Amino acid sequence: MNKTAVVYWSGTGNTKAMADAVAEGARGAGAAVDVFTASEFGQDKLSGFDSVAFGCPAMGAEVLEESEFDPMFTGIEASLAGKKVALFGSYGWGDGQWMRDWEDRCSSAGISLVTESVIANNAPDDEAVNNCKALGAALA
Ligand SMILES: Cc1cc2nc3c(=O)[nH]c(=O)nc-3n(C[C@H](O)[C@H](O)[C@H](O)COP(=O)(O)O)c2cc1C
Repeated sequence: MNKTAVVYWSGTGNTKAMADAVAEGARGAGAAVDVFTASEFGQDKLSGFDSVAFGCPAMGAEVLEESEFDPMFTGIEASLAGKKVALFGSYGWGDGQWMRDWEDRCSSAGISLVTESVIANNAPDDEAVNNCKALGAALA
């Protein structure tokens, strides 16, 4: 059975709502799913999973959250090339630049994303929730 990790950071719950939908979609497609906050995940956990969905909102000025999420991601980035990976997250006033930069960073690290990233403006609407479920299913 495919083992999928959903790893997210969320300050006000919007990315968490997306993470819950990703997990639901992956479970629905038959994967065994564990959900972690960024501070709970790292290199020690990574080896147990075939697929990882990473969720982080736009923070700072169009960057990943810098105290927990970015250090976690930096720590495992070099080990993600052989995994099935997908990205999601919520944003506010921007235009999604943080996600384009994150996708470019993955590409530079040799990480191939298995499906289109999902971004939601603030709280995910029904379409974004469905896209998150589809993202989870694509990882399963
Ligand atoms: C400190 C801080 C910085 C932010 N920076 C950006 C930004 O650069 N671009 C943007 O579109 N939204 C930005 N936002 C808005 C958040 O991305 C948005 O509120 C998002 O829904 C938060 O997701 P969460 O509920 O999962 O924490 C920022 C919010 C905070 C609190």
